[in-house]
Amino acid sequence: MMRSHTCGELRPTHAGHHVELCGWVDTVRDHGGLIFIDLRDRHGLAQVVFDPRDSQEAWDTAQATRSEYVIRIAGVVEPRPADMVNAKLPTGGIEVRASRIQVLNRSQTPPFPLDDEEAGKVAEDLRLTYRYLDLRRPLMQQRLAKRHAIVLAARRYFDRHGFVEVETPILTKSTPEGARDYLVPSRVCPGTFFALPQAPQQYKQLLMMAGLDRYVQIARCFRDEDLRADRQPEFTQIDVEMSFIEQEDILTLVDGLVASICEAAGRPVPSLPLPRMTYAEAMSRYGSDKPDLRFGMEISDLSAIFRGSAFKVFAGAVEKGNVVKAINAKGLAGVPIRVMDEWTVLAKDAGLAGLAFIRVQDDGTWKSPIVKFFSDAEKEALRAALDIRVGDLVLFAADAPDRVHTLLGRLRLLAGGMAGVVKDDTFAFTWVTDFPLFEKTEEGGLQSMHHPFTSPNPEDLPLLDSDPAKIRARAYDIVLNGVELGGGSIRIHDPAVQQRMFQALGIPDAEIEDRFGHLIRALSFGAPPHGGIALGLDRLVMLMVGATSIRDVIAFPKTQKAMDLMMNAPAAVDARQLRDIHIRLAGIE
Ligand code: AMO
Ligand code: AMP
Repeated sequence: MMRSHTCGELRPTHAGHHVELCGWVDTVRDHGGLIFIDLRDRHGLAQVVFDPRDSQEAWDTAQATRSEYVIRIAGVVEPRPADMVNAKLPTGGIEVRASRIQVLNRSQTPPFPLDDEEAGKVAEDLRLTYRYLDLRRPLMQQRLAKRHAIVLAARRYFDRHGFVEVETPILTKSTPEGARDYLVPSRVCPGTFFALPQAPQQYKQLLMMAGLDRYVQIARCFRDEDLRADRQPEFTQIDVEMSFIEQEDILTLVDGLVASICEAAGRPVPSLPLPRMTYAEAMSRYGSDKPDLRFGMEISDLSAIFRGSAFKVFAGAVEKGNVVKAINAKGLAGVPIRVMDEWTVLAKDAGLAGLAFIRVQDDGTWKSPIVKFFSDAEKEALRAALDIRVGDLVLFAADAPDRVHTLLGRLRLLAGGMAGVVKDDTFAFTWVTDFPLFEKTEEGGLQSMHHPFTSPNPEDLPLLDSDPAKIRARAYDIVLNGVELGGGSIRIHDPAVQQRMFQALGIPDAEIEDRFGHLIRALSFGAPPHGGIALGLDRLVMLMVGATSIRDVIAFPKTQKAMDLMMNAPAAVDARQLRDIHIRLAGIE
């Protein structure tokens, strides 16, 4: 054994013990002839003292060490003098008086300080290039450990509930989740390609047809899409599928999972059941299908108040069947004109003619370009509907509901951030249910809002030919603090309905057979009713540890350009490899 203890575990109760420690030199300090080394490993930091009177040889070696040298020391634990105790450090009550030191390996000077505070200021690209150094930082190690604890809690939870974890293929066939596929050329079958799974969606459904009943997988997914703080080209899902269940069963199961995970992550456990709202409600009250419920500033419908108003912009909107809605951005009466201008640009980009507002001044008067058109009754109704008080800023939007909701939803988030009412330590979960089955494509066709295996709400099925945009799906998302954490649905298990769905999506019959023939066939061999969900593990961990990007909770993430700077991937390959897989590069410099 190279060490008797880890660097983080020594306490005053170890005083007098002879110990051996291994780790990295965090800092070396020379204080009046004594050398102090802060020795670091995953478990913490221990102060080691070298006194030339104990061993001149050890002192000489210690003096020559530098940051990130790997050393092994032997010595005796001593309580620190009362005035030297470091209350901020778990091992701050002791130090190790070293008699021996062995340099296990030297280190070049790291390209950036491995200090949580300092590393935060370093360009992320540099951190990613030397990710193994970045990961030595205590904060990163805690995050990886928390991720492990969360996955473990999830696996235990599913095991307790009778789930079987099954691995599904990575080399597979394209399955639509709304992104581009990563393709892998086949050497053996020239001109053909595997796709990496965007999700194990079809496999998990096929496992239900195989009678597996309750499936879970901590599944890696691959999506070639534009990246953001909460999107990576490869990411992990907690992927679930169940047979002989209804939507309610999945929501209840995931409620329990969330509680177990919060507990494992040391976060407040939310009271169950988690709140729920329909998609229509989420859009109408929060202007988003992933509402951030950590603060109010809800969208109010004022259409009834302004029907027939002297203010023609609003009255005209109501007359046309559009809506007049507003949010009360509490406390923001003083936002600079510059900000109002930016927000007006957002309104115009959203297709609105303008953005009307009221600033409520300190003396209670309303400063606004539009209130002069309002009757006293309208003003009173407005005041009551929005609870308007001194210091408030009211933002109005009048147009088609979709436009108004999207705009006010965005302004609500900006206003909430600006007013500082979004508390970082609050956890606000909600389910959003009854998503539309379809959304319109830019070309005017239909595409699945979730994926084409999602079951329509049977009540709405008659609309398939007349008004498909109105069909609700048996689909649900779970949302935390305005982030979409997971989504799922009850699936279609009737092969005829599945076939109709592909047709409604405008997929030609030959292509249906080519892409989904296997699934329709499987459905025809006694598929049980089934449904499931997938939760984004990276997003979940990000929120649980209070990080702002999923890159911070993935050991080796990719950059915004989907590159691995440490491995330098993707990279060119040699001509022979290309020949083997029957690929010739065209038009690439
Ligand atoms: P969906 O596409 O909604 O559903 O994905 C489920 C969850 O996965 C996470 N997620 C991502 N996380 C990081 N980077 C990405 N690029 C990324 N894309 C998605 C999100 C999301 O909520 N097969 C269905 C699930 C089902 O129907 O059971 C699916 O994949 O947190
Ligand atoms: P106008 O009568 O067009 O000068 O508009 C008067 C005020 O109403 C201005 O402050 C505009 O920004 C605002 N406004 C115009 N159209 C809309 C709209 N669709 N929704 C909200 N406010 C609007």
